[in-house]
Amino acid sequence: MAALQQVTHPGKGDRSITELGLVGGIDIKGNNVEVTLEYTGRKDPLADYLAGAVRAAIQRNFPNGTTASVKSVVKEEAPRKKQEELTDEGLAGVKHIIGVASGKGGVGKSTVAVNLAAALAGKGYKVGLADADVYGPSVPVMTGTAGEVPLVDEIDGKQWFLPIEKFGVKWMSIGYFAQPEQALIWRGPMASGALKQMILQVKWDQLDYLIIDMPPGTGDIHISLARDIRMDGVIIVTTPQQVALADVLKGVNMFRTSGIEKNVLGLVENMAWFTPEELPQNKYYIFGKDGGVKMARELGLELLGQIPLVQGIRESGDDGLPAALKDSPDGQAFKELADNIVRLMP
Ligand SMILES: Nc1ncnc2c1ncn2[C@@H]1O[C@H](COP(=O)(O)OP(=O)(O)OP(=O)(O)O)[C@@H](O)[C@H]1O
Ligand SMILES: [Mg+2]
Repeated sequence: MAALQQVTHPGKGDRSITELGLVGGIDIKGNNVEVTLEYTGRKDPLADYLAGAVRAAIQRNFPNGTTASVKSVVKEEAPRKKQEELTDEGLAGVKHIIGVASGKGGVGKSTVAVNLAAALAGKGYKVGLADADVYGPSVPVMTGTAGEVPLVDEIDGKQWFLPIEKFGVKWMSIGYFAQPEQALIWRGPMASGALKQMILQVKWDQLDYLIIDMPPGTGDIHISLARDIRMDGVIIVTTPQQVALADVLKGVNMFRTSGIEKNVLGLVENMAWFTPEELPQNKYYIFGKDGGVKMARELGLELLGQIPLVQGIRESGDDGLPAALKDSPDGQAFKELADNIVRLMP
């Protein structure tokens, strides 16, 4: 109980789940702790998140091989409307949904996604961004919105998360629901369930563009996401090295798999060259020159943008002020990417 007391419900003023009476039972069998979370009337929209948080709390408090499993049950209440399945009605007012993906991690997907969103908003479009990386959500930090908690609105018995608005963009991330030091432990189906909520259970209203920052790689989560979420276009982020080609190919092929085909709009070459702040006209091709150009040609894809490697982009990411909002050469690079997206998806 003491360990579970540390788990708080971000949708209920961060009160502890023990205090809220959600712990229906604790059953200890050998090394495994089975926790039952009991909801009344309908499943809490944060049930999957709370289950992950409970497992993390148990493992944190009992580090010596103790495992935890969590059962979420719904107690009957006087008859009332049951919580509907997740549908895509929240996306009805969204004109274009664009996935930002990559074959491998750390190539700058989130940086590109956040800056593309900010650049499109800067051009006057209505923009939202959903951070679909449940394992390493980076959008709250990159946008300086860490620590904010989305409000929940109930409309006709259905609950909706209200996105966080900043820089003219509506941001949504699982990171808003987790304490920064709290490592989320998700199992596959739970992870894709939680991230679909970050897209489908959000009150986006009218948007010209909804950008989805996909998690790195080409696993089950991606396939489930591509199958269940309408995505009108996908852009693939890569770095220029020739060795990255195989990863890019994996990413592109995933979106060409039958049943989940998506329109791959093209490649974005990130870290295309290095430019020192004090010598803005100098370009050093650390990872090879025109790697992205060649890769795009080999794959028959358009090169949508070339983003330089500059210290300012990394700093902007850490400081929560997207580089695309600045009047620098790197800010310009993101604006050109935005122009290409608008051209392809007017
Ligand atoms: N063009 C750039 N110039 C300087 N730093 C960059 C650039 N692009 C990305 N970075 C930095 O590299 C790091 C990784 O970038 P980012 O988090 O966007 O990658 P990612 O592909 O989303 O990673 P993950 O696979 O973990 O989701 C960040 O610290 C970011 O600030
Ligand atoms: Mg990322």
